[in-house]
Amino acid sequence: MTIPSVSLPSGDTMPIVGAGTWDIEGDTVRDSVRTALDTGYTHIDTAEGYRNEAEIGDVLADNDRDELFLTSKVLPSNLNYESVLEACESSLRKLNTDYLDLYLIHWPNPAVSLRETMNAMERLHEQGKVRNVGVSNFSAYQLSAAEHVSNIPIAVNQIEFHPWFQRPDLIEYCRETDVRIEAAAPLARGELFGDDTIQELADKYDKTPAQVVLRWAVEKDVVVIPKSSSADHIRENIALFDWKLDETDHQHLDDGDRNHPVYDTATRDWTDDIYGIAR
Ligand SMILES: NC(=O)c1ccc[n+]([C@@H]2O[C@H](COP(=O)([O-])OP(=O)(O)OC[C@H]3O[C@@H](n4cnc5c(N)ncnc54)[C@H](OP(=O)(O)O)[C@@H]3O)[C@@H](O)[C@H]2O)c1
Repeated sequence: MTIPSVSLPSGDTMPIVGAGTWDIEGDTVRDSVRTALDTGYTHIDTAEGYRNEAEIGDVLADNDRDELFLTSKVLPSNLNYESVLEACESSLRKLNTDYLDLYLIHWPNPAVSLRETMNAMERLHEQGKVRNVGVSNFSAYQLSAAEHVSNIPIAVNQIEFHPWFQRPDLIEYCRETDVRIEAAAPLARGELFGDDTIQELADKYDKTPAQVVLRWAVEKDVVVIPKSSSADHIRENIALFDWKLDETDHQHLDDGDRNHPVYDTATRDWTDDIYGIAR
């Protein structure tokens, strides 16, 4: 099975479906990633904050690295220059690899100079340790700041995106500035499976609600990284390319935006030891 890809400013290609790995550890993440790779996924998304890079590295050791697209992320508490370099080294060591296809700033941190962080990203890029750099959970304003201080292109903004949280202004800004959009929590963590429109379309196309939601995103050239620990779901989530939504049905989902985030909410806990801002 060949998975379609989007092209990045470097000329590299990024498979439009990847396997997410947030909140799974130990044998669960090993099994999930192994199943994904056996099923035909070639793109894995992790982060130092997920604390599962070493388990993913165990699985990657049995695979041809050059066939894979691997993303990791640096925590907001590690965004000063030396910490970015150290965090990346640690991710590379755990993941059993000498380069990342994509390295993202996981969340913005207004307490650290973005120029300093981007300089470190550029250094990693020059060293060949990071092929493409990007950001995650950046607003249009924050992305614009990153673009202004970076000497290398910001290839990707990984953001919460699904039919209930469509963020048209941010999407438009990413497209205008040639930044690829990657949908984190593309299934809204399951919250939107009860949506009547999604359920009706699943019945109409004889697909599952998850497939309808993922197909809708990839039709917009948005990269999706659904996470699952079920082998059936992992297979289902990549079976998206021998059918399509007709224009009216696609539009029907466009019309269902509720401006409803599941994780990128105003009440996020910034004092948390992973996402918090270090003193
Ligand atoms: N950059 C960021 O800050 C950020 C934030 C959030 C997420 N992410 C990335 O995006 C990935 C995906 O987001 P997420 O894990 O938060 O949520 P998600 O992928 O939207 O949803 C995951 C949930 O959906 C279920 N599921 C998956 N496939 C299904 C299917 N075909 N049918 C029914 N249920 C299904 C999973 O349960 P089962 O295990 O039972 O299938 C799990 O409970 C993450 O793992 C992570 O890599 C990044």
